[in-house]
Amino acid sequence: MTHVFIIASESLRSEGDIDCPDVAQVAGDLDPLLLEARVLIVYANGLDLQRTLLTCRVLAPDRVVVVADPDEAQVASDASGRLDLDIQIISPEHFDAEKVIALAGDLGEHAFRAIVSSVDEHVIQCIRLSGGLTVGDQVQPATSGSGRHFDLTSFETRGDEVCISLASVQHAIKSGEVLCRVGELPEVSNQFKAEIVWLSTNDGFEGRRYDIEIGNQHCGATVSGLKHRYDPYSYEHLSARKIGIGDCVSVTLGLRQEIVFDTVTRSRSMATFILRDHYSSDIVAMGVLSHSLRRARNVHRQELDIQRADRELLNNHEGAVVWFTGLSGSGKSTVANGVEKELHRQGVRTYVLDGDNVRHGLNKDLGFTDADRIENIRRVAEVARLMVDAGLVVLTSFISPFRSERDLARQLFDEGEFFEVYVNVPLTVAEERDPKGLYRKARAGEIPNFTGIDSDYEAPVSPELEVRTNELLLPECIQAVFELLKANSIFMTR
Ligand code: ADX
Repeated sequence: MTHVFIIASESLRSEGDIDCPDVAQVAGDLDPLLLEARVLIVYANGLDLQRTLLTCRVLAPDRVVVVADPDEAQVASDASGRLDLDIQIISPEHFDAEKVIALAGDLGEHAFRAIVSSVDEHVIQCIRLSGGLTVGDQVQPATSGSGRHFDLTSFETRGDEVCISLASVQHAIKSGEVLCRVGELPEVSNQFKAEIVWLSTNDGFEGRRYDIEIGNQHCGATVSGLKHRYDPYSYEHLSARKIGIGDCVSVTLGLRQEIVFDTVTRSRSMATFILRDHYSSDIVAMGVLSHSLRRARNVHRQELDIQRADRELLNNHEGAVVWFTGLSGSGKSTVANGVEKELHRQGVRTYVLDGDNVRHGLNKDLGFTDADRIENIRRVAEVARLMVDAGLVVLTSFISPFRSERDLARQLFDEGEFFEVYVNVPLTVAEERDPKGLYRKARAGEIPNFTGIDSDYEAPVSPELEVRTNELLLPECIQAVFELLKANSIFMTR
């Protein structure tokens, strides 16, 4: 396993000019492979050195060596002071790659971590992520706490595959679990502070859901907080609402399930991660976990005696959410209003959450940038969840232009209680209607980021219902939504 990587400019890489022994891999500074690096050698020539050293700081390898002529050496030395990053600077004529790489052998061994791939009686096959075993070691699953360990009789290592024989038959070990040595337990959490480098040309946003991969563990992860972005030259902490390619950012992450993790000095593979786009699976960021957030352990749920089912019984119907989405002027609020009147007549307890109203109160601090719309929908979805828990049928009327946040909202609810209704009209029709005169202003350049004009609307792929308000009469649209709820037994007609 090579842990030595060379970062070099594209021109140096393509010319193949690097004095690169076979044991080191050469990469640009936005390559997720760099997460594996315990030693990073930076060829300053042709690089944006300050920016690259910031990336090195985020990646937190054991050692950084900068190969630089005197001018670049000064830049590197200044940067290392400001970044509090320990680096070794060597001039190109004195640089001996073999020597640097030989030093990598002195780095201490990481803790043993392996993912179980199969269990057969007392033989466990696993993939080693870090560290090694010695005869006489005791192993245990990382999440089982103390007191559940197993004696090793033998083990065999082939590359990263490890075959462990245990003294007795074990049913308690399951595939997918992380194995560790007794006394070297990793931590478990679902909320973290982390430093990331953004690798995608698509911007990243607070509140958006991604998929995280860390030490072979996979789950959904939301950037729950965007703490700050580092200025690539002064390294000052800047506030940020979105993350662009090459940005180094300090974030908090909320994971959908607990994962096993380590500090980077204990096991690099259990502390470094990539984020993928939830839909395309493209890698969007690489990062390193700093620590688990205490609030993960200190915030508990309060058990209450009256539950949602009790409220629903009293109401005589179930809680549900009808999520209307569509362009401004498509008719969302008009249809929602009509459906609410109809439900009310049937004795159903309802509430309409409407963009234009919510933005006067709860969300009055938000505008219409992508970041603000994401936060708008995140808050509304959480409010809708509380209202559904209160036993209400909630009708939300927001443009909610992004598929990612509509799906995030959907995930807050159980199967069969979230109904996405696409209020679909062509942009030309919405613009012709222009009930608030906003399209006219947007075309005149007076309203920036207007949906359909200079801000995207991502149409639903498989909504529960689509209503075309320019092809159907209003009562027909209302009836279609009403029938959808009835067919799903949300309420019984009187
Ligand atoms: S969303 O995109 O964040 O879901 P929301 O539904 O809350 O938007 O608010 C949309 C309403 O705000 C529109 O119906 C319109 O009246 C008004 N509005 C003001 N500026 C804009 C804009 N730039 N884009 C879209 N709607 C806007």
